[in-house]
Amino acid sequence: MQNNFIFGEHGTVGYFGKDVVAEHLPKLAAQYGENVLLCYGGGSVKKNGAYDDVMTVLKDTGKKVTEFSNIPSNPTLDMAYEGIALAKKIHADLILAVGAGSVMDMSKAISIGAATDLEIWDNFWIGDTPIDFDPVPLGMVVTMPATGSESNGCAVLTNTKTKIKCDKNHPESNAKFALMDPTYTFTVPKRQLLAGTFDILSHVMEAYFSEPVQDNLSDDISEAMMKEIIRDLRISIQNPMDWNARSNLMWVDFVIGSRLIKMGKLTDFQCHNMEHQLSAYNNCVHGEGLAVLHPVYYRHIYKAGAAKFAKFAKNVWGLNPSDYETEEALAAAGIEALADFIKEVGLPTTLREIGYTENDDLKTIAESCFISKGSLKILDFDDISEIYKEAL
Ligand code: NZQ
Ligand code: ZN
Repeated sequence: MQNNFIFGEHGTVGYFGKDVVAEHLPKLAAQYGENVLLCYGGGSVKKNGAYDDVMTVLKDTGKKVTEFSNIPSNPTLDMAYEGIALAKKIHADLILAVGAGSVMDMSKAISIGAATDLEIWDNFWIGDTPIDFDPVPLGMVVTMPATGSESNGCAVLTNTKTKIKCDKNHPESNAKFALMDPTYTFTVPKRQLLAGTFDILSHVMEAYFSEPVQDNLSDDISEAMMKEIIRDLRISIQNPMDWNARSNLMWVDFVIGSRLIKMGKLTDFQCHNMEHQLSAYNNCVHGEGLAVLHPVYYRHIYKAGAAKFAKFAKNVWGLNPSDYETEEALAAAGIEALADFIKEVGLPTTLREIGYTENDDLKTIAESCFISKGSLKILDFDDISEIYKEAL
Protein backbone atom coordinates (compact mmCIF):
# COMPACT_ATOMS: atom_id res chain seq x y z
CA MET A 1 0.00 0.00 0.00
CA GLN A 2 1.76 3.14 -1.21
CA ASN A 3 -0.27 5.98 0.22
CA ASN A 4 -0.97 7.01 3.80
CA PHE A 5 -4.55 6.94 5.01
CA ILE A 6 -6.88 7.03 7.99
CA PHE A 7 -9.65 4.44 8.14
CA GLY A 8 -12.74 4.47 10.35
CA GLU A 9 -12.68 8.09 11.53
CA HIS A 10 -16.20 9.10 12.65
CA GLY A 11 -17.24 5.58 11.62
CA THR A 12 -20.91 4.69 11.38
CA VAL A 13 -22.02 1.71 13.44
CA GLY A 14 -23.93 -0.73 11.21
CA TYR A 15 -26.77 -2.91 12.51
CA PHE A 16 -27.58 -5.59 10.00
CA GLY A 17 -30.29 -8.21 9.62
CA LYS A 18 -33.94 -9.01 10.04
CA ASP A 19 -35.90 -6.83 12.49
CA VAL A 20 -32.89 -4.67 13.44
CA VAL A 21 -35.12 -1.60 13.78
CA ALA A 22 -37.25 -3.16 16.52
CA GLU A 23 -34.17 -4.68 18.12
CA HIS A 24 -31.76 -1.74 18.15
CA LEU A 25 -33.54 1.55 17.49
CA PRO A 26 -35.02 1.82 21.04
CA LYS A 27 -31.62 1.98 22.72
CA LEU A 28 -30.11 4.10 19.95
CA ALA A 29 -32.93 6.66 20.01
CA ALA A 30 -32.72 6.81 23.82
CA GLN A 31 -29.25 8.38 23.50
CA TYR A 32 -30.72 11.56 22.00
CA GLY A 33 -33.28 14.18 23.06
CA GLU A 34 -36.97 13.98 22.33
CA ASN A 35 -37.23 15.98 19.08
CA VAL A 36 -36.84 13.80 16.03
CA LEU A 37 -36.95 14.98 12.43
CA LEU A 38 -38.06 11.99 10.37
CA CYS A 39 -37.00 12.30 6.72
CA TYR A 40 -38.33 10.12 3.92
CA GLY A 41 -39.18 10.15 0.23
CA GLY A 42 -42.32 9.69 -1.82
CA GLY A 43 -43.97 6.97 0.21
CA SER A 44 -42.20 3.66 -0.50
CA VAL A 45 -41.38 3.48 3.23
CA LYS A 46 -45.07 3.10 3.96
CA LYS A 47 -45.25 0.02 1.70
CA ASN A 48 -42.08 -1.77 2.74
CA GLY A 49 -42.74 -1.65 6.48
CA ALA A 50 -39.90 0.69 7.45
CA TYR A 51 -42.12 3.65 8.36
CA ASP A 52 -44.36 1.58 10.64
CA ASP A 53 -41.40 -0.11 12.33
CA VAL A 54 -39.69 3.23 12.99
CA MET A 55 -42.83 5.02 14.16
CA THR A 56 -43.65 2.21 16.60
CA VAL A 57 -40.25 2.60 18.25
CA LEU A 58 -40.33 6.40 18.27
CA LYS A 59 -43.80 6.39 19.83
CA ASP A 60 -42.85 3.80 22.43
CA THR A 61 -39.76 5.81 23.41
CA GLY A 62 -41.79 9.03 23.81
CA LYS A 63 -40.26 11.02 20.97
CA LYS A 64 -41.86 14.08 19.42
CA VAL A 65 -41.73 13.30 15.70
CA THR A 66 -41.82 15.92 12.94
CA GLU A 67 -41.97 14.57 9.41
CA PHE A 68 -40.09 15.93 6.40
CA SER A 69 -41.25 13.90 3.42
CA ASN A 70 -41.48 13.85 -0.38
CA ILE A 71 -37.72 14.12 -0.69
CA PRO A 72 -37.19 13.51 -4.43
CA SER A 73 -34.49 11.58 -6.24
CA ASN A 74 -31.55 13.89 -6.98
CA PRO A 75 -32.30 16.11 -3.95
CA THR A 76 -32.08 19.85 -4.41
CA LEU A 77 -30.39 22.59 -2.44
CA ASP A 78 -33.67 24.52 -2.22
CA MET A 79 -35.35 21.64 -0.46
CA ALA A 80 -32.36 21.28 1.86
CA TYR A 81 -32.92 24.91 2.94
CA GLU A 82 -36.54 23.99 3.84
CA GLY A 83 -35.39 20.98 5.84
CA ILE A 84 -32.75 23.03 7.65
CA ALA A 85 -35.33 25.66 8.62
CA LEU A 86 -37.66 22.97 9.92
CA ALA A 87 -34.92 21.20 11.89
CA LYS A 88 -33.94 24.52 13.49
CA LYS A 89 -37.55 25.34 14.28
CA ILE A 90 -38.18 22.08 16.14
CA HIS A 91 -34.70 22.06 17.72
CA ALA A 92 -34.07 18.60 16.29
CA ASP A 93 -32.04 16.36 18.58
CA LEU A 94 -31.90 13.54 16.07
CA ILE A 95 -32.44 13.38 12.33
CA LEU A 96 -33.62 9.99 11.17
CA ALA A 97 -33.37 9.24 7.44
CA VAL A 98 -35.61 6.39 6.30
CA GLY A 99 -35.04 5.57 2.65
CA ALA A 100 -32.37 5.35 -0.02
CA GLY A 101 -29.54 7.63 -1.16
CA SER A 102 -31.54 10.75 -1.88
CA VAL A 103 -33.17 10.74 1.56
CA MET A 104 -29.88 10.00 3.27
CA ASP A 105 -28.05 12.75 1.37
CA MET A 106 -30.75 15.30 2.09
CA SER A 107 -30.64 14.33 5.76
CA LYS A 108 -26.88 14.89 5.88
CA ALA A 109 -27.29 18.36 4.39
CA ILE A 110 -29.94 19.14 7.01
CA SER A 111 -27.80 17.77 9.84
CA ILE A 112 -24.96 20.11 8.84
CA GLY A 113 -27.10 23.15 8.00
CA ALA A 114 -29.22 22.93 11.15
CA ALA A 115 -26.12 23.22 13.32
CA THR A 116 -24.72 26.41 11.80
CA ASP A 117 -25.78 29.83 10.58
CA LEU A 118 -23.52 29.54 7.55
CA GLU A 119 -25.05 29.00 4.10
CA ILE A 120 -24.33 25.38 3.17
CA TRP A 121 -23.74 25.41 -0.62
CA ASP A 122 -21.03 28.07 -0.82
CA ASN A 123 -19.36 26.92 2.36
CA PHE A 124 -19.63 23.16 2.51
CA TRP A 125 -20.36 21.91 -1.01
CA ILE A 126 -18.66 24.22 -3.52
CA GLY A 127 -16.43 25.73 -0.84
CA ASP A 128 -14.08 24.11 1.65
CA THR A 129 -15.12 25.71 4.93
CA PRO A 130 -14.19 23.20 7.63
CA ILE A 131 -16.93 21.67 9.74
CA ASP A 132 -15.63 22.77 13.16
CA PHE A 133 -18.97 22.15 14.88
CA ASP A 134 -21.05 19.08 15.60
CA PRO A 135 -23.78 18.45 13.00
CA VAL A 136 -27.15 17.40 14.41
CA PRO A 137 -26.84 13.64 15.11
CA LEU A 138 -28.04 11.53 12.23
CA GLY A 139 -29.31 7.94 11.98
CA MET A 140 -30.18 5.94 8.88
CA VAL A 141 -32.74 3.24 8.17
CA VAL A 142 -31.71 1.97 4.76
CA THR A 143 -34.42 0.74 2.36
CA MET A 144 -32.37 0.24 -0.80
CA PRO A 145 -28.65 -0.36 -1.33
CA ALA A 146 -27.10 1.86 -4.01
CA THR A 147 -25.09 4.87 -2.93
CA GLY A 148 -23.24 3.75 0.19
CA SER A 149 -24.44 7.00 1.74
CA GLU A 150 -25.32 5.11 4.90
CA SER A 151 -21.68 4.60 5.90
CA ASN A 152 -19.91 7.80 4.93
CA GLY A 153 -20.19 11.56 5.03
CA CYS A 154 -20.76 12.12 1.34
CA ALA A 155 -23.91 13.88 0.19
CA VAL A 156 -24.83 14.92 -3.34
CA LEU A 157 -26.99 18.01 -3.85
CA THR A 158 -28.27 19.69 -7.00
CA ASN A 159 -28.26 23.46 -7.27
CA THR A 160 -31.05 23.99 -9.80
CA LYS A 161 -30.11 27.65 -10.34
CA THR A 162 -26.50 27.02 -11.36
CA LYS A 163 -27.25 23.53 -12.74
CA ILE A 164 -24.44 22.00 -10.75
CA LYS A 165 -24.78 18.66 -9.01
CA CYS A 166 -22.02 18.46 -6.45
CA ASP A 167 -20.89 15.72 -4.10
CA LYS A 168 -18.96 16.48 -0.96
CA ASN A 169 -17.64 14.18 1.71
CA HIS A 170 -17.69 15.45 5.28
CA PRO A 171 -16.76 12.63 7.65
CA GLU A 172 -18.14 14.81 10.47
CA SER A 173 -21.62 14.19 9.06
CA ASN A 174 -21.34 10.40 9.00
CA ALA A 175 -24.45 8.87 10.48
CA LYS A 176 -24.06 7.69 14.05
CA PHE A 177 -25.81 4.45 13.13
CA ALA A 178 -27.26 2.68 10.09
CA LEU A 179 -29.97 0.07 10.44
CA MET A 180 -30.08 -2.37 7.51
CA ASP A 181 -32.92 -4.84 7.29
CA PRO A 182 -32.78 -6.50 3.85
CA THR A 183 -36.51 -7.29 4.12
CA TYR A 184 -37.24 -3.66 3.21
CA THR A 185 -35.50 -4.11 -0.13
CA PHE A 186 -37.94 -6.78 -1.35
CA THR A 187 -40.28 -4.04 -2.62
CA VAL A 188 -37.62 -2.22 -4.69
CA PRO A 189 -38.90 -2.10 -8.30
CA LYS A 190 -36.77 -3.73 -10.99
CA ARG A 191 -35.75 -0.41 -12.50
CA GLN A 192 -34.35 0.82 -9.17
CA LEU A 193 -32.79 -2.57 -8.44
CA LEU A 194 -30.85 -2.34 -11.72
CA ALA A 195 -29.89 1.31 -11.32
CA GLY A 196 -29.00 1.02 -7.64
CA THR A 197 -26.94 -2.13 -8.08
CA PHE A 198 -25.10 -0.69 -11.06
CA ASP A 199 -24.26 2.31 -8.88
CA ILE A 200 -22.73 -0.07 -6.32
CA LEU A 201 -20.67 -1.73 -9.06
CA SER A 202 -19.64 1.65 -10.38
CA HIS A 203 -18.35 2.76 -6.98
CA VAL A 204 -16.04 -0.26 -6.94
CA MET A 205 -14.82 0.33 -10.51
CA GLU A 206 -14.20 4.03 -9.79
CA ALA A 207 -11.84 3.03 -6.97
CA TYR A 208 -10.28 0.04 -8.77
CA PHE A 209 -9.33 1.88 -11.99
CA SER A 210 -7.03 4.43 -10.40
CA GLU A 211 -3.49 4.62 -9.11
CA PRO A 212 -1.82 2.71 -7.62
CA VAL A 213 -2.48 -0.12 -10.06
CA GLN A 214 0.07 -2.52 -8.53
CA ASP A 215 -1.19 -5.46 -6.47
CA ASN A 216 -2.86 -4.19 -3.32
CA LEU A 217 -5.41 -5.37 -0.80
CA SER A 218 -8.01 -2.72 -1.69
CA ASP A 219 -8.14 -3.92 -5.31
CA ASP A 220 -8.15 -7.61 -4.33
CA ILE A 221 -11.21 -6.94 -2.16
CA SER A 222 -12.72 -4.93 -5.02
CA GLU A 223 -12.43 -7.87 -7.42
CA ALA A 224 -14.28 -10.13 -4.98
CA MET A 225 -16.93 -7.44 -4.53
CA MET A 226 -17.46 -6.95 -8.26
CA LYS A 227 -18.00 -10.69 -8.79
CA GLU A 228 -20.42 -10.76 -5.87
CA ILE A 229 -22.41 -7.76 -7.13
CA ILE A 230 -22.70 -9.22 -10.65
CA ARG A 231 -23.81 -12.59 -9.27
CA ASP A 232 -26.31 -11.17 -6.79
CA LEU A 233 -27.87 -8.77 -9.29
CA ARG A 234 -28.50 -11.71 -11.65
CA ILE A 235 -30.07 -13.70 -8.81
CA SER A 236 -32.19 -10.75 -7.57
CA ILE A 237 -33.58 -10.23 -11.08
CA GLN A 238 -34.60 -13.90 -11.28
CA ASN A 239 -35.96 -13.98 -7.75
CA PRO A 240 -36.59 -10.57 -6.15
CA MET A 241 -37.33 -12.32 -2.84
CA ASP A 242 -33.95 -14.05 -2.61
CA TRP A 243 -32.80 -13.15 0.89
CA ASN A 244 -29.22 -14.21 0.35
CA ALA A 245 -28.69 -12.08 -2.77
CA ARG A 246 -30.57 -9.06 -1.40
CA SER A 247 -28.74 -9.17 1.92
CA ASN A 248 -25.35 -9.54 0.23
CA LEU A 249 -26.08 -6.41 -1.82
CA MET A 250 -27.12 -4.46 1.25
CA TRP A 251 -23.98 -5.45 3.14
CA VAL A 252 -21.57 -4.85 0.26
CA ASP A 253 -23.04 -1.37 -0.19
CA PHE A 254 -22.32 -0.51 3.45
CA VAL A 255 -18.77 -1.86 3.25
CA ILE A 256 -18.05 0.07 0.02
CA GLY A 257 -19.57 3.20 1.53
CA SER A 258 -17.22 2.85 4.51
CA ARG A 259 -14.41 3.62 2.02
CA LEU A 260 -12.55 0.38 2.77
CA ILE A 261 -11.65 -0.19 -0.89
CA LYS A 262 -10.59 3.42 -1.39
CA MET A 263 -7.79 3.06 1.15
CA GLY A 264 -4.44 3.79 -0.45
CA LYS A 265 -6.12 4.55 -3.81
CA LEU A 266 -6.33 7.86 -5.63
CA THR A 267 -9.83 6.92 -6.92
CA ASP A 268 -11.32 8.11 -10.20
CA PHE A 269 -15.00 9.15 -10.15
CA GLN A 270 -14.77 10.88 -13.55
CA CYS A 271 -17.70 8.79 -14.72
CA HIS A 272 -19.65 9.96 -11.67
CA ASN A 273 -18.77 13.58 -12.42
CA MET A 274 -20.03 13.17 -16.00
CA GLU A 275 -23.24 11.48 -14.84
CA HIS A 276 -23.93 14.06 -12.13
CA GLN A 277 -24.03 16.83 -14.74
CA LEU A 278 -26.33 14.80 -17.02
CA SER A 279 -28.58 14.44 -14.02
CA ALA A 280 -28.29 18.15 -13.13
CA TYR A 281 -29.59 19.00 -16.61
CA ASN A 282 -32.37 16.42 -17.00
CA ASN A 283 -32.88 14.74 -13.62
CA CYS A 284 -32.05 11.26 -14.91
CA VAL A 285 -31.63 8.21 -12.68
CA HIS A 286 -28.05 8.14 -11.39
CA GLY A 287 -27.34 4.42 -11.89
CA GLU A 288 -28.83 4.46 -15.39
CA GLY A 289 -26.61 7.36 -16.45
CA LEU A 290 -23.60 5.49 -15.11
CA ALA A 291 -24.54 2.35 -17.03
CA VAL A 292 -24.66 4.33 -20.28
CA LEU A 293 -21.36 6.13 -19.67
CA HIS A 294 -19.05 3.53 -18.16
CA PRO A 295 -18.29 1.41 -21.25
CA VAL A 296 -17.90 4.49 -23.46
CA TYR A 297 -15.59 6.16 -20.93
CA TYR A 298 -13.51 3.02 -20.48
CA ARG A 299 -13.07 2.58 -24.25
CA HIS A 300 -11.56 6.07 -24.19
CA ILE A 301 -9.10 5.50 -21.36
CA TYR A 302 -8.18 1.81 -21.18
CA LYS A 303 -4.96 2.00 -23.21
CA ALA A 304 -3.51 4.19 -20.47
CA GLY A 305 -4.07 1.37 -17.97
CA ALA A 306 -4.21 -1.75 -20.12
CA ALA A 307 -2.65 -4.05 -17.51
CA LYS A 308 -5.32 -3.12 -14.96
CA PHE A 309 -8.16 -3.50 -17.46
CA ALA A 310 -6.70 -6.88 -18.50
CA LYS A 311 -6.73 -7.96 -14.85
CA PHE A 312 -10.37 -6.88 -14.62
CA ALA A 313 -11.16 -8.98 -17.73
CA LYS A 314 -9.48 -12.05 -16.27
CA ASN A 315 -10.35 -11.84 -12.58
CA VAL A 316 -13.86 -10.33 -12.73
CA TRP A 317 -15.26 -11.57 -16.05
CA GLY A 318 -13.33 -14.84 -16.19
CA LEU A 319 -11.83 -14.24 -19.65
CA ASN A 320 -8.91 -16.45 -20.58
CA PRO A 321 -5.75 -14.43 -21.38
CA SER A 322 -4.52 -17.10 -23.79
CA ASP A 323 -7.54 -16.40 -26.03
CA TYR A 324 -6.15 -12.90 -26.74
CA GLU A 325 -3.05 -11.96 -28.68
CA THR A 326 -2.19 -8.91 -26.63
CA GLU A 327 -2.82 -7.49 -23.18
CA GLU A 328 -4.64 -4.60 -24.83
CA ALA A 329 -7.00 -6.99 -26.65
CA LEU A 330 -7.80 -8.75 -23.35
CA ALA A 331 -8.35 -5.35 -21.69
CA ALA A 332 -10.76 -4.29 -24.44
CA ALA A 333 -12.64 -7.60 -24.18
CA GLY A 334 -13.19 -6.99 -20.44
CA ILE A 335 -14.88 -3.68 -21.23
CA GLU A 336 -17.12 -5.43 -23.78
CA ALA A 337 -17.99 -8.05 -21.13
CA LEU A 338 -19.13 -5.17 -18.90
CA ALA A 339 -21.14 -3.69 -21.80
CA ASP A 340 -22.75 -7.10 -22.48
CA PHE A 341 -23.71 -7.42 -18.81
CA ILE A 342 -25.35 -3.99 -18.90
CA LYS A 343 -27.42 -5.11 -21.92
CA GLU A 344 -28.17 -8.52 -20.43
CA VAL A 345 -29.72 -7.14 -17.24
CA GLY A 346 -31.74 -4.52 -19.13
CA LEU A 347 -30.04 -1.27 -18.18
CA PRO A 348 -30.05 1.53 -20.76
CA THR A 349 -27.08 1.75 -23.09
CA THR A 350 -27.65 5.14 -24.76
CA LEU A 351 -28.30 8.68 -23.57
CA ARG A 352 -31.42 8.69 -25.75
CA GLU A 353 -32.93 6.03 -23.50
CA ILE A 354 -32.49 8.35 -20.50
CA GLY A 355 -34.05 11.37 -22.15
CA TYR A 356 -31.33 13.07 -24.19
CA THR A 357 -31.57 13.94 -27.91
CA GLU A 358 -29.30 15.59 -30.51
CA ASN A 359 -31.05 18.87 -29.63
CA ASP A 360 -29.41 18.89 -26.19
CA ASP A 361 -26.35 21.04 -25.80
CA LEU A 362 -24.00 18.26 -24.73
CA LYS A 363 -20.97 20.53 -25.15
CA THR A 364 -22.25 22.95 -22.51
CA ILE A 365 -23.05 20.06 -20.18
CA ALA A 366 -19.56 18.64 -20.77
CA GLU A 367 -18.00 21.98 -19.89
CA SER A 368 -19.87 22.05 -16.58
CA CYS A 369 -18.30 18.76 -15.39
CA PHE A 370 -15.71 18.49 -12.65
CA ILE A 371 -12.48 16.97 -14.00
CA SER A 372 -11.10 14.09 -11.95
CA LYS A 373 -7.39 14.05 -11.22
CA GLY A 374 -7.62 10.33 -10.43
CA SER A 375 -8.48 9.03 -13.89
CA LEU A 376 -5.94 6.70 -15.49
CA LYS A 377 -6.14 9.17 -18.42
CA ILE A 378 -7.11 12.64 -17.29
CA LEU A 379 -9.83 14.02 -19.56
CA ASP A 380 -10.43 17.51 -20.87
CA PHE A 381 -13.78 19.06 -21.82
CA ASP A 382 -13.41 17.96 -25.47
CA ASP A 383 -12.96 14.35 -24.36
CA ILE A 384 -16.10 14.57 -22.24
CA SER A 385 -18.01 16.09 -25.14
CA GLU A 386 -16.85 13.19 -27.35
CA ILE A 387 -17.90 10.64 -24.75
CA TYR A 388 -21.37 12.20 -24.46
CA LYS A 389 -21.72 12.26 -28.26
CA GLU A 390 -20.68 8.63 -28.57
CA ALA A 391 -23.08 7.68 -25.77
CA LEU A 392 -26.03 9.41 -27.45
O1 NZQ B 1 -39.18 8.18 -2.85
P1 NZQ B 1 -39.62 6.82 -2.45
O2 NZQ B 1 -41.08 6.62 -2.50
O3 NZQ B 1 -39.02 6.39 -1.13
O4 NZQ B 1 -39.06 5.79 -3.57
C1 NZQ B 1 -37.69 5.62 -3.86
C2 NZQ B 1 -37.29 6.36 -5.13
O5 NZQ B 1 -38.37 6.46 -6.01
C3 NZQ B 1 -37.45 4.18 -4.26
N1 NZQ B 1 -37.22 3.27 -3.14
C4 NZQ B 1 -36.25 3.32 -2.19
N2 NZQ B 1 -36.35 2.25 -1.37
C5 NZQ B 1 -37.40 1.51 -1.81
C6 NZQ B 1 -37.95 2.16 -2.94
N3 NZQ B 1 -39.03 1.66 -3.61
C7 NZQ B 1 -39.56 0.52 -3.17
N4 NZQ B 1 -39.07 -0.15 -2.09
C8 NZQ B 1 -38.00 0.30 -1.40
N5 NZQ B 1 -37.52 -0.39 -0.37
O6 NZQ B 1 -36.28 4.22 -5.05
C9 NZQ B 1 -36.29 5.44 -5.79
C10 NZQ B 1 -34.90 5.99 -5.86
O7 NZQ B 1 -34.47 6.45 -4.62
P2 NZQ B 1 -33.17 7.35 -4.51
O8 NZQ B 1 -32.93 7.60 -3.06
O9 NZQ B 1 -33.24 8.51 -5.40
O10 NZQ B 1 -32.07 6.35 -5.10
P3 NZQ B 1 -30.55 6.18 -4.82
O11 NZQ B 1 -30.29 5.48 -3.56
O12 NZQ B 1 -30.00 5.60 -6.05
O13 NZQ B 1 -29.98 7.67 -4.62
C11 NZQ B 1 -29.69 8.49 -5.73
C12 NZQ B 1 -29.08 9.78 -5.27
O14 NZQ B 1 -27.87 9.56 -4.52
C13 NZQ B 1 -26.78 10.25 -5.15
C14 NZQ B 1 -27.19 10.25 -6.60
O15 NZQ B 1 -26.48 11.18 -7.39
C15 NZQ B 1 -28.67 10.63 -6.47
O16 NZQ B 1 -28.81 12.00 -6.20
N6 NZQ B 1 -25.51 9.59 -4.81
C16 NZQ B 1 -25.10 9.70 -3.54
C17 NZQ B 1 -23.86 9.23 -3.14
C18 NZQ B 1 -23.37 9.38 -1.76
N7 NZQ B 1 -24.09 10.01 -0.88
O17 NZQ B 1 -22.28 8.93 -1.44
C19 NZQ B 1 -22.94 8.59 -4.07
C20 NZQ B 1 -23.59 8.16 -5.34
O18 NZQ B 1 -22.59 8.01 -6.30
C21 NZQ B 1 -24.65 9.07 -5.85
O19 NZQ B 1 -24.12 10.15 -6.59
ZN1 ZN C 1 -22.84 6.56 -7.53
